[in-house]
Amino acid sequence: MEKVNVALLGLGTVGSGVWKMLKENQDVIARKTGKWYQVHAILVKDPGKKRDLEITDARITTDFSQVLTEETDVLVEVMGGVEPAYSYIKQAMKKGCHVVTANKELIAKHGMELEQLAKQCQVQLRYEASVGGGIPVISTLRHFLKANRIDRIQGILNGTTNYILTQMQEKGHSFAEVLKKAQEKGYAESDPSSDVEGLDAVYKLTILMRLAFQARVSVSDIFYQGITDILSGELQLAGKLGYSVKLLAQAEKFGENGPVSGSVLPTLVPKEHPLASVRDVYNAMTVEGDYVQDLTLVGQGAGQKPTASAVVEDLLNTNGFAEQNPLPVKEPWMLSGDDLFPTRFLLLKVRGQVTESMLSPSFCKEASSLALLPAEEHTFIGLILRGWTQEKTDALVSTWDGKVDGIRIRPVLSGEATGSKRSLPLARTM
Ligand code: NAP
Ligand code: HSE
Repeated sequence: MEKVNVALLGLGTVGSGVWKMLKENQDVIARKTGKWYQVHAILVKDPGKKRDLEITDARITTDFSQVLTEETDVLVEVMGGVEPAYSYIKQAMKKGCHVVTANKELIAKHGMELEQLAKQCQVQLRYEASVGGGIPVISTLRHFLKANRIDRIQGILNGTTNYILTQMQEKGHSFAEVLKKAQEKGYAESDPSSDVEGLDAVYKLTILMRLAFQARVSVSDIFYQGITDILSGELQLAGKLGYSVKLLAQAEKFGENGPVSGSVLPTLVPKEHPLASVRDVYNAMTVEGDYVQDLTLVGQGAGQKPTASAVVEDLLNTNGFAEQNPLPVKEPWMLSGDDLFPTRFLLLKVRGQVTESMLSPSFCKEASSLALLPAEEHTFIGLILRGWTQEKTDALVSTWDGKVDGIRIRPVLSGEATGSKRSLPLARTM
């Protein structure tokens, strides 16, 4: 199998995630790409630091010349900051290496120049993880919205501040306490002032505006304010008035040759607006284009695993490493509908007028929530059944002595997004 040699700059939150993903998902990566990705060297600042990774097959060093070697095919930069990342990336490109980076500050400030250099050196520069963590925001703009005139972008582009605002507004926790948690979870930058003062979102908006509007926007062109002066009481009052407070990034282009605007500001969003339900570390970006109309992408905007996912996908997508076509497939073991949804909603159509006092204790015991709706000669009974089985359903129906004229069973989706579980429609006939 063909080997791809990777040099990794940084072994912090994101770097460790990249290392783990390449190891833990080596089988799936090899199956889909037909390639074996091997990190041969890692650059760190403090080689003596205690790390929760056991690395025996890569050189860990503080010396860049030991990392970028003749064998390097791709350089992955996840160390952050402008220098020395900027110089290292330029050296790598000039040596003919593709570059993958998660560094939004660097791309916001020097993205155009680095893309120019990548073109001259005939290598790729990819930076999907620099905006929106695991959400494929950049690929969507670059590859799926090329033919649209994009005139508006709106979104939540910083996971740390969205997590802080959500926890402060919903749970009443203090700013300092939640910021500490965001740091522990690996959401915040090494200097979190960049997150809470709004600059991190400014970098990301600058990158998006360049890609969406083809506008050479500088970081200093964006009007911004962070969340450091947000008071708990302010959030509670906004909540009572029907609003969620979000650090909202907005950019607009007023016509083909008209002006553009960009801002990042703590903004009151009506609770019924889709962005109000984007909570905690989740980010969202809505793009408005003349043909696509509007498109919203939502996902985890920070943290080790989502960010590593974006970096590794970029790595696999660098030039010449296209996926195997056709993809090798296996015969799957399909779960049947009955095994899919442990919690179900049951709708029973019971003859006659039913009141709560008529419900038997055994019926009420099974139903975790229950509601009645009278309808002419029938009463509809809706109930939530946990640990659903056909036997339990039959037992509930049998308590009505043949008075059930119809039944519908629907899956119930669990409250929190799990990232991997998806609900499928399932219905039984009356
Ligand atoms: P981090 O946890 O602070 O890790 C930084 C890593 O880079 C550390 O391993 C550090 O070495 C190394 N490093 C820093 N400066 C160095 C230098 N001058 N020379 C050699 N090594 C150096 O940061 P992170 O959260 O992983 O973020 C890395 C990059 O990804 C940043 O550009 C960030 O904006 C971006 N990003 C982060 C996230 C996220 O959720 N965290 C999401 C998207 C993008 P030591 O370990 O020895 O200190
Ligand atoms: N610190 C950044 C955030 C990391 O919280 O959104 C992801 O870019």
